[in-house]
Formats: sequence, structure tokens, C-alpha cells
Amino acid sequence: MEKKTILVTGGLGYIGKNITNLLLKNNFKVIVIDNLENSFKHKFKENNYDFIKIDILDLNKLNNVFQENKIDIIIHTAGMTKVNESEKKPLKYFDVNVSGTINILKMMEKFKIKFLIFSSSAAVYGNPKRIPIKEDDLKNPINVYGLTKLIDEKMIIKSEIYGIKSIIFRYFNVAGKNTENNLFYNPRGDVTHLFPSIKEVINNKKEKLIIYGNNYNTKDKTCIRDYIHIDDLAYAHLLAINYLFKYQKSEIFNLGSKNKYSNLEIVKLAEKVIKNKINYVISENKRKGDPDILFANTKNIEKKLKFYPKKNIINVLTDELN
Ligand code: UFG
Repeated sequence: MEKKTILVTGGLGYIGKNITNLLLKNNFKVIVIDNLENSFKHKFKENNYDFIKIDILDLNKLNNVFQENKIDIIIHTAGMTKVNESEKKPLKYFDVNVSGTINILKMMEKFKIKFLIFSSSAAVYGNPKRIPIKEDDLKNPINVYGLTKLIDEKMIIKSEIYGIKSIIFRYFNVAGKNTENNLFYNPRGDVTHLFPSIKEVINNKKEKLIIYGNNYNTKDKTCIRDYIHIDDLAYAHLLAINYLFKYQKSEIFNLGSKNKYSNLEIVKLAEKVIKNKINYVISENKRKGDPDILFANTKNIEKKLKFYPKKNIINVLTDELN
């Protein structure tokens, strides 16, 4: 059978490179587009992917890629992903996340590409009314990042009129690394996420960890999140490809781990993993746009994709911190 060709946008970012790696292992032809703004070139062990350095905002260059390649399915991971930054640079987020996705959809319409897998986020829910969160619960983002992803989702769903079938994944908090190929989170800019920040403290690059906020509506008053290992998350994309080819049906899935931990619990678990103390303070100051708790109900993805995460928080922490 002829190899299927998959275009991965942002295919060298943290999420994108882990998906690309798995696709190459599973014998797909992969074309990666990436502007390298927040990523680096990478040689995968398989080393048989096409890399094109372009920005998804460059419609002319994007058009050339589609003209020159027959693409069966697009995995659209390219985007800006920092909640805090999105509040400070809203137009940049609307530009890359919304206009970028419009460009991808325009290309799909023009070149009659039927299948899309989209990286959305738990941030679309805002502060959930109930826990764990179900896919059809209220979407009321409390930060610009989540708003851009919600607009993207609606544009994608409306684009079914062009024959586009999609799987939208709402990622909860992704962490860990693929240990085989050492594919870890490696941004060009500042580190702002919890796990990489803990790592910086352990490696003496930061004096101490600041846990943002001590008056959230949670048991220990710090935020609660649902951390899914990147290997599990990447694997869900393989299942989604098979699902789209087989059922040709659009779906929206929460992609979470079935577990939740507070920021304070994470620090305590990290101390256990490294068998050492971590220097931290809990500050009164909240970070703008942080919901109290994000925790996924994963029944839908279990039922339809037969997806069950294999890795737990200790795997995540061990991979992250070693
Ligand atoms: N945190 C700290 N100190 C730090 C860094 C983070 O206390 O130095 C806290 C945050 O305030 C938050 C928690 O750790 O309470 C997790 O923060 P991250 O920045 O690691 O992740 P976010 O929950 O803000 O966002 C991540 C992704 C989003 C995604 C979201 C979904 O960046 O793309 O998870 O849950 F939408």
C-alpha cells in the first residue's frame, strides 16, 4: 500500500516533534513545516522526513507546499501556547493562532484535503463549572490563548461544509519527554511552565520556584492540573489518524491523564523523585488567566479511540527531571 503523507505544522515544537517521531516510526511519509521561532532543527533517528522552513502566516509559501505535495492529512500543532504571554500580546496570539489556522483551512479547501487533527487546549473551558470536565461543558475561556483556540475550533467545525473531517484534541497539561530520542520541551524563549521551572531550580538556573497563588478554590489553595505524558499524547494522534481514515467522522476529545495534582503536590512529588529539597515559595500573587482547576473527563476518548494513558505522574517527573 502507498504510504500516506502527513503534514505536521509546528512539527519541530515540543508536541510536533514527538508526533513526527512516532509517525516516522509507523511508516508514514512526514512533511514538517515550522518557522523555527520557538524550536530547533532536529535529526530523528529515522531521519526520513521533509522539512520546510516556513511560517503558516505566509500564504504564498504555504500554497507552494500544497502545490508540490499530495497531502492526505494535516496535524496542525503550530501555534503560540503561553497563557500568561497571551494576555500581554493578544494580537500576536490572534495572528498566529487564528489567522494561521484560517490559512491552513484555506489550503485544505483549495487542495481538497479531507482530514485535520488539531491541537486545541483545556484552556477553552476557562474556570469549569464541574470537575472532571466533559467535552460538551461550557466553554468560557479566561485568557486570550484559550479564546484563540476556541475560535479555531469553531472555524474548523464550520469548515465541514468543505468536506473537512477533523479530530480536535483538547490537550490538558502536557509534560515529560520521549526518552528514546530525548525529545524534551526546549523553547527558545523564557521557561514559564511548571515542570521546566522546577528543573531550572534543580539545575541552579533559578534561585527558587515561585508557586503562583495561595487562595485558589482547591484543597491546598494552589492550582490543580491534569498532567499527561507526551508519549501518551503523541500516541493518541496515531489512533486519531486511523479513526479518521476508518470512520471519516469529526470528533472532539479531551486528552488528559485521568489524574490531577496541585502545584504544591507536584513540588512534593518532585522532591521525592530527586530525593532532595526544592527551594520554593508560595506567593500571594496569582498569574493572570490561571483557572483554579483543570481536570479532564476522558470517557469519550476511551470509548471512541480506545485511548488509555500508560504513564503516570512519576514517569512524567522522572523523565522531566533527570
Ligand atoms: N506555575 C507556578 N510557578 C511556575 C510556573 C507555573 O506556580 O514557575 C503554576 C501555574 O500558575 C499553574 C500551573 O503551575 O497553576 C501550571 O502552569 P503551566 O504554565 O505549566 O501550564 P498552564 O496550566 O498555564 O498551561 C498549560 C499549557 C496550555 C494549556 C494548559 C491546559 O501551556 O497550553 O496547560 O491545561 F492550555
